[in-house]
Amino acid sequence: MFYGKNVGVVPEHHGAIMNRTDILRRKDINHFWHPYTDINSFERREFPVIEHAEGVYLEDTAGNRLLDGISSWWCMNLGHSHPDIVDAIRKQSGRLQNSITAGMSHTEVIRLSEKIADIAPGNLSRVYYASDGACSVEAAMRISLQYWWNLDRPEKRRMISLSGGYHGDTLGCAGLGYISGFHKPVEHVLNRSITADSPHCFHCIYSCNPEDCGMECFASMEKAVIENCGAAAAVIVEPVCQGAAGMRIYPPLYLSRLKKLCDENEVLLILDEIAVGFGRTGRMFASELAEIVPDMMCIGKGLTGGSLPMSAVVASEEVYDAFRSDSQIDRTFYHGHTFCGNPIAAAAACAAIDVYERDNVLGNVEILAKMLLEAFGKYRDIPGIHGSTALGCMSALEISEESGGASTALEIADTARRKGLFIRPLGPVLYLWPPLVTANNEMAKMLQIFEDSLIENLS
Ligand SMILES: Cc1ncc(COP(=O)(O)O)c(C=O)c1O
Repeated sequence: MFYGKNVGVVPEHHGAIMNRTDILRRKDINHFWHPYTDINSFERREFPVIEHAEGVYLEDTAGNRLLDGISSWWCMNLGHSHPDIVDAIRKQSGRLQNSITAGMSHTEVIRLSEKIADIAPGNLSRVYYASDGACSVEAAMRISLQYWWNLDRPEKRRMISLSGGYHGDTLGCAGLGYISGFHKPVEHVLNRSITADSPHCFHCIYSCNPEDCGMECFASMEKAVIENCGAAAAVIVEPVCQGAAGMRIYPPLYLSRLKKLCDENEVLLILDEIAVGFGRTGRMFASELAEIVPDMMCIGKGLTGGSLPMSAVVASEEVYDAFRSDSQIDRTFYHGHTFCGNPIAAAAACAAIDVYERDNVLGNVEILAKMLLEAFGKYRDIPGIHGSTALGCMSALEISEESGGASTALEIADTARRKGLFIRPLGPVLYLWPPLVTANNEMAKMLQIFEDSLIENLS
């Protein structure tokens, strides 16, 4: 079989009448290069082609409805097609679609920056925009490097991060976290950060249990910071949950200790809130659980309620001040993106922030969190499950190696899809990250399908 430019796939059906979904699938595999998708197995699968989504449901071209159990890559916090966001996008696209933000401004980005500064912790009040999460992490790294350069300390140019951290797929970001399954083919060109042991509670390398955990793993971060503080510009971590590494939820206390450690050793602290910010943990930002204010935080995904690509670095006044130029020295931040602060995305983000606040989304997270905690606590007893964890609207469990690990997890996800729930495993880890506005009955339905799919494949 040859798929390529201008090579139609229609002859492949050998005269049989193909339905619309089959034709779309054929066209898809002819031209669309999917992210994070193994080509061979994908081409053999009957993958859904989504054409409509509302609330917690995705709907495909065949009319099947799927509960979105992972908020479409962790971003549709307010569900799909939220009417306020749709309305804001519609109105803004008729007024102003784009306008350069270097050296000038526009009304929507001003409105949004004020809103973000209002909800951000402490003195985080300077908002630098990018489009995807990775671009905001790149910007945060560059800000931290130039911060020290501007202060005449160019030797502070290394980053410290957690092993198994994930901060995006650009080469700069991949050097920060490094997940071998994702980044091995480019390992030889990465500028690797100094890494500290992951606070990996499912597989604690210090053999601690949650009950007797004295956060022994923090010693490795302490060592990394103290030994390298002369050369380190910043520490960056995903607060309370290392998502892509397999939903490794860890105690907020780790963050309070980290903040103190960074302050004592003159190293900036960047919290990557791209996945967990905007309510996922039960607080607007995960840093609030630890009652700390980082020097910078990266936000994305839920910022526009997941509707449009927009991300940002929110920096403290102190960090921003280091970029003020006097007449002799140019301290300008020469870094930017064409779509920095795009007006349509900004309007969507303003509408989303209004919804988070007006509709008491955090109140709903509290209810969902209880349901997830109870259910995932119970799943721990199902034979074949190595462990489970839950915090806020994040919940995960791991299929033990003896029960097939990653391949069983894939089968469970397939079963769930057939029953009407979309989930996507991370290796042997299966997780539920529902939209934060999921209703009780919808959550109950997700959990029922999840449980049935576990039992069907593990018994
Ligand atoms: C914690 C974290 N940082 C950064 C990113 C990268 O964001 P994006 O995929 O929008 O580039 C992700 C994506 O999942 C993430 O979870």
